[in-house]
Amino acid sequence: MYYAKITRIERLTEDVSILYFNIKLPSYPGQFVMLSVLGYEEIPLSLSSPNSVTVKAVGETTRKLVNAEVGMRVGLRGAFGSTFTPSKSALIVAGGIGIAPLKYLYDFLQKCNAKVSVIFGERTAKNLFWVDEFDEITITTEDGTLGIKGTVIDALRLKNLDEFEKIYVCGGEGMLKATYTFLKERDALDKAEFSLERFMRCGIGVCGSCVIENGLRVCADGPVFRASELPW
Ligand SMILES: Cc1cc2nc3c(=O)[nH]c(=O)nc-3n(C[C@H](O)[C@H](O)[C@H](O)COP(=O)(O)OP(=O)(O)OC[C@H]3O[C@@H](n4cnc5c(N)ncnc54)[C@H](O)[C@@H]3O)c2cc1C
Ligand code: FES
Repeated sequence: MYYAKITRIERLTEDVSILYFNIKLPSYPGQFVMLSVLGYEEIPLSLSSPNSVTVKAVGETTRKLVNAEVGMRVGLRGAFGSTFTPSKSALIVAGGIGIAPLKYLYDFLQKCNAKVSVIFGERTAKNLFWVDEFDEITITTEDGTLGIKGTVIDALRLKNLDEFEKIYVCGGEGMLKATYTFLKERDALDKAEFSLERFMRCGIGVCGSCVIENGLRVCADGPVFRASELPW
């Protein structure tokens, strides 16, 4: 367990902040940490870089973190879990806060001189962030306030999937399943990797709280899965 200090906080939207720590965790894109704050539940958060997490406020612990102050101490266990497989030409497909681990992957692939294209979908424009951080990005909003009106699937329809060696996907369960179905129809599932979320307690494969329908554990066998490992 690392005992880290928050050294910088950037508020990205009304309910999303990026928190930077004074330590860099040995890690690869796709991995997560179990983060604890005194008096709150320990929660899983993907790394957005070796020394940062990007948090969306959905409940007590995440709200505490989004509104944290510089100097606050947190416990960090990890990094845990499987990683994305690097590639030379990549399509990143992110729904909402699903962009958090994919930002780490994007930066990693850029350093390896890979060609990376990003699709980033949100409900509405005011929830979007980091749009200027990616060289090639297609934005979708469900209400049409920015980019293509619709979902990431509408942006995927416009892509020639043969151009990409790998397709990396992270977002809510509905978005993941819709993307899985779309890629299956287009015969592109083999090159896809999906990052899943489940409620977690131990984070290390012991307690069973993050098991998916086919018996795999999101914390230890995932969170990044190949399509062939998923029960969909
Ligand atoms: C491997 C992994 C990586 C994750 N990475 C990130 C990340 O990088 N950034 C991030 O912000 N979150 C991430 N999450 C989700 C995060 O762990 C949860 O949002 C957090 O545990 C909620 O804790 P809480 O105490 O704030 O809310 P709780 O009190 O536990 O829940 C409050 C309410 O929010 C709902 N809820 C819980 N989780 C989610 C969710 N993910 N989306 C929508 N509603 C939810 C609950 O059902 C409940 O109704 C990740 C989860 C996993 C498993
Ligand atoms: S969180 Fe305990 S087995 Fe995954």
